[in-house]
Amino acid sequence: MLVFTNKNKINNHISALKQSNKTVGFVPTMGALHQGHLSLIKEGLSNNDIMVVSIFVNPTQFDNVEDLKKYPRTLDDDIALLKTLSNDILVYAPSVEDIYQNNVKAQNFSFDGLEFEMEGRFRQGHFDGVGTIVKRLFEIVIPDNAYFGEKDFQQLTIIKKLVDKYDVPVNIVGCKIHREANGLAMSSRNVRLKPEYKTAAPFIYKTLQHAKTKFGTKSADYVTQWVEKQFADHDLLKLEYFIIADVDTLKTVTQKHKSKTYRAFIAVYADDIRLIDNIALN
Ligand code: PAJ
Repeated sequence: MLVFTNKNKINNHISALKQSNKTVGFVPTMGALHQGHLSLIKEGLSNNDIMVVSIFVNPTQFDNVEDLKKYPRTLDDDIALLKTLSNDILVYAPSVEDIYQNNVKAQNFSFDGLEFEMEGRFRQGHFDGVGTIVKRLFEIVIPDNAYFGEKDFQQLTIIKKLVDKYDVPVNIVGCKIHREANGLAMSSRNVRLKPEYKTAAPFIYKTLQHAKTKFGTKSADYVTQWVEKQFADHDLLKLEYFIIADVDTLKTVTQKHKSKTYRAFIAVYADDIRLIDNIALN
């Protein structure tokens, strides 16, 4: 398996392959790979000649120094896991310097307001950091198709906006959320959950499923208050937000419309670990 740490080297390698009309699929990740990441990579492998995976814990998208420090870094295990899929995957695992040189700063973007909702409200500057790294990675990897999980639905929506607004010639493919058998959405952060929190965490998805059922007959406000009450009564899990939003604008719904598509979004603290999830409502 080829593992690149230098942007010019991987860019030259891919450029040469593209000369012979090979299609390039790309999954950007921050590593600590799990079956959720692998589901994206498998989809890429079946639809492209060449598959590239980047592994880079991007400092400019973290608003919390502790969170960045504690983010799991498991490059050897990640490579071993990728090898179970294919030896032909190209890995790009750069240093911070390779990406940012001496200027570890995010560029400012406008995503037409999408960036101010939900995660943007609770994680200052997060989507400028995501936009900066994804745009740079696209320039280095020059993919035809790039795969993003619905697990980070707002991120997926913002990346679609990014390529549209800034004319980046990449096809963005959204992929379903991969879950543990107990319903917990897979996340690199799950490995840090202490046993009692691991046992408690499936409550998040169970509550989303109940919320979906209730949304069939009740208002968005009613469902939101019901969810808030479930977490107020919970011993271990602390709700940061529960929001029912329009999938196009990501704005919180007040009045339901039959013609619109809605999703419920949630962020919860399990101890000091922040977990997010979402569910399609109609
Ligand atoms: P990371 O959290 O490593 O996730 C990489 C990709 O895997 C994202 O598109 C994410 O939505 C997807 N993913 C994670 N867990 C998933 C699950 N359980 N089911 C389906 N897809 C899942 O998202 C990032 O990294 C970063 O923000 C990045 C885009 C790499 C930019 O730094």
